[in-house]
Amino acid sequence: MLTTTKKIIFYVVVLALLAEQVWVFGPAVKSMLFPPHEDVAQAGARVALSMGCPACHGAAGGGGFDNPGSDNGVVPALSGGEIMMWADEPEHLREWILYGRRLDDESGSDRSGFTAGQGSARAVVMPAYEPFLANGELDQLIAWLGAISGLQFPDAPASAPDEEKQRTARVADGLELAHRLGCFSCHGPMGTGGVQNPGSLKGYVPGFFGEDYAELVVDNEELRQWISDGAVSRLLDNPFARRVLETQALKMPSYRDFLEDEEIDALVELVAWLASDSWREMPVP
Ligand code: HEC
Ligand code: HEC
Repeated sequence: MLTTTKKIIFYVVVLALLAEQVWVFGPAVKSMLFPPHEDVAQAGARVALSMGCPACHGAAGGGGFDNPGSDNGVVPALSGGEIMMWADEPEHLREWILYGRRLDDESGSDRSGFTAGQGSARAVVMPAYEPFLANGELDQLIAWLGAISGLQFPDAPASAPDEEKQRTARVADGLELAHRLGCFSCHGPMGTGGVQNPGSLKGYVPGFFGEDYAELVVDNEELRQWISDGAVSRLLDNPFARRVLETQALKMPSYRDFLEDEEIDALVELVAWLASDSWREMPVP
C-alpha cells in the first residue's frame, strides 16, 4: 500500500519536472523541430538595428530628420531610390559604411575630418563603422540596403521577346501594388523575411525565399490561393497546420474581395519573380 502511494508521488514529481523542462526549453525544442531560416538581407536588417542605422535613417531606411549644415538639409533616406544620388557604384556604398564618407568626394563638398559635435560642418555626421563591423556584416548590410533601396526593379532588355516584356511589366505592376498593400511590411523588404509573429510555427512571418517558401508554396496555384484566400487548402486540411494558421497573431489577409483578377495575377508574377532570386543580381546602385 505504502509503496503504491510512494510510486504515485514519485511519478507525479517526475511528470512535474518533465513539464517544467518542456516549459523552460519549449522555444528551444520548437526551433530545433522547426528551424528558422534567415536571409542574408534579413541578417543585414539585424546588423543595421544593432549598429543604430535606423536612429538617423528612419525605421525602414525611409529617411531621417533635419540636418542643419548638410548638403540636403536632411539625413538622407536609404530607400526610394535615394541611395543612387549618393553612391554611383557599389564601392561607394562600402565607403559610406566603413568611413562615413565617399573617398573620391566627387560631390564637391569636403567630408573628411568631420567629427560630430566638434565643429563639424553639419549637425549630424554619418559614423564610420569600420571598427565596429565583424566579418561578413558589411556584406549583410549591403544585401539589406539592396532589398530596401527600391532600385532592384524588374527590367527587360529592349531586345527581349514581347512575351518577356509583358511579363516584366506585370511584375513591375505587382511590385508597385505590393508596396501599396504593405506585403513587405509583413514579409520583409522584397520578401526577405518578415516580422515576429506570436503563435506561428516558426515565430515569424516567412519570406519569399528558401525552404520556408518551398514548404508553404508548392506551385503557382497555391501562390494564387495564398494571396486570394489567405491560406491554401493543403494546409487547411491538416488539423495541426490549420490550428496554427487560425490562431497565430498575424494572419495572411485574403485579398479576393478587394482586388481585380489582373491585380492578383500581377502579385503572383511578382512573388514568383522574387522567389526566383533573379532580382538580387541587379546592381545597387
Ligand atoms: C548619427 C546618424 C547616422 C547613423 C547612425 C547612420 N548614418 Fe548613414 N548617414 C548619415 C548622414 C548625416 C548621411 C549623409 C552624409 C552627409 O550629409 O554628409 C549618411 C549617409 C549614408 C549613406 C549615403 C547616402 C545614401 O542615402 O545612400 C549610406 C548608404 C548610409 N548613410 C548608410 C548607413 C548605414 C548602413 C548605417 C548603419 C550601419 C548608417 N548609415 C548609420 C547619418 C547616419
Ligand atoms: C498582416 C501581415 C501580412 C500582410 C500585409 C501580407 N501577408 Fe502574406 N502572409 C502573412 C502570414 C502570417 C502568412 C502565413 C504564413 C504562415 O503559414 O505562417 C502569409 C503567407 C503568405 C504567403 C505564403 C508563403 C510565404 O512564404 O510567405 C505568400 C505567398 C504571401 N503571404 C504573399 C503576400 C502578398 C503578395 C501580400 C500583399 C498583397 C501579403 N502576403 C501581405 C502575413 C501577411
